[in-house]
Amino acid sequence: MASHKIIIDCDPGVDDAVAITLALAAPDEIELLGVTTVAGNVPLENTTRNAIGLLALLRRPDIPVYAGCARPLMRAVGHRSIMHGTEGLGGVELTNDGIEPASEHAVDFIIDTVMSRPGEVTLCPIGPLTNVAVALVKEPRLASNLKQIVFMGGAAFGSGNTTPSAEFNVYVDPHAAHIVACSGVQLTMFGLDVTRSVIATPERLVRLETFDNDVARTVVRMMTAYAQGDPCLHDPCVIAWMIDPGLFSGVDALLEVDCAAGPNYGRTVASVSSRHLAGRQANCKIITNARCDDLFEMLEQRLARFNIPGI
Ligand code: RIB
Ligand code: CA
Repeated sequence: MASHKIIIDCDPGVDDAVAITLALAAPDEIELLGVTTVAGNVPLENTTRNAIGLLALLRRPDIPVYAGCARPLMRAVGHRSIMHGTEGLGGVELTNDGIEPASEHAVDFIIDTVMSRPGEVTLCPIGPLTNVAVALVKEPRLASNLKQIVFMGGAAFGSGNTTPSAEFNVYVDPHAAHIVACSGVQLTMFGLDVTRSVIATPERLVRLETFDNDVARTVVRMMTAYAQGDPCLHDPCVIAWMIDPGLFSGVDALLEVDCAAGPNYGRTVASVSSRHLAGRQANCKIITNARCDDLFEMLEQRLARFNIPGI
């Protein structure tokens, strides 16, 4: 039985697609219960279509996809990213094979799945945290029934990538990130502090291109296009940690989110020292370092698995 039961909440997005692919190449470590989509890099219609198309490419139409929130909590329309191309997958077109998203809303799927498996489910949000925040508000018991939340977002000790202060996922919906930070759930954060070091260099992409299977070739095409704008593999870090936490290290901190209008809107603030904590408890492990060569070696090994029909 797999070590982890997870739900990936995402906004595919090229690096989201790599993260989902990696999760499905790790059946011993990860049981993917479902994929929930949120508006982020591109609108919800696109993120949902992209998630379904990717699962069809991976020959896993059995993995259900649930569409979630089409906008952030407080803004009528969320900020978009230009890094992933107009449709969201670096110009790569995928077929949905006629598959549609499940009828249940993503928020209800998250609640139903977690509440039916108390203490067993890990949420892996790799887009704006709107769905997760709404689920935490709608079901007050959710927090105590979740095993943990392991997410990509924020920039605890460095600059943002969307504004000087804010990383994209948190910038799109800082109020949702605040709800998650205050939830009391065990949190592990993969912010830009570590993901900026996980770079799909041309040398690494060339090595991945050697695989003779349509999955790897398609994923590498996406990564190559994405790398023109952002070569960092942000989202796959979350899944790599679920597979092998020894690839990473970090610090315990009190994570807070700045939701005030102005230059710090969406900034994530981490208090580590006893002076900054001032008697408050840490609420999050913030990952700060990755063994990047070993991470890419793992990614290569896992992508190679798609050489085998049915994997
Ligand atoms: O800042 C990086 C994050 O924003 C990643 O999740 C990427 O997919 C975009 O959503
Ligand atoms: Ca993402």
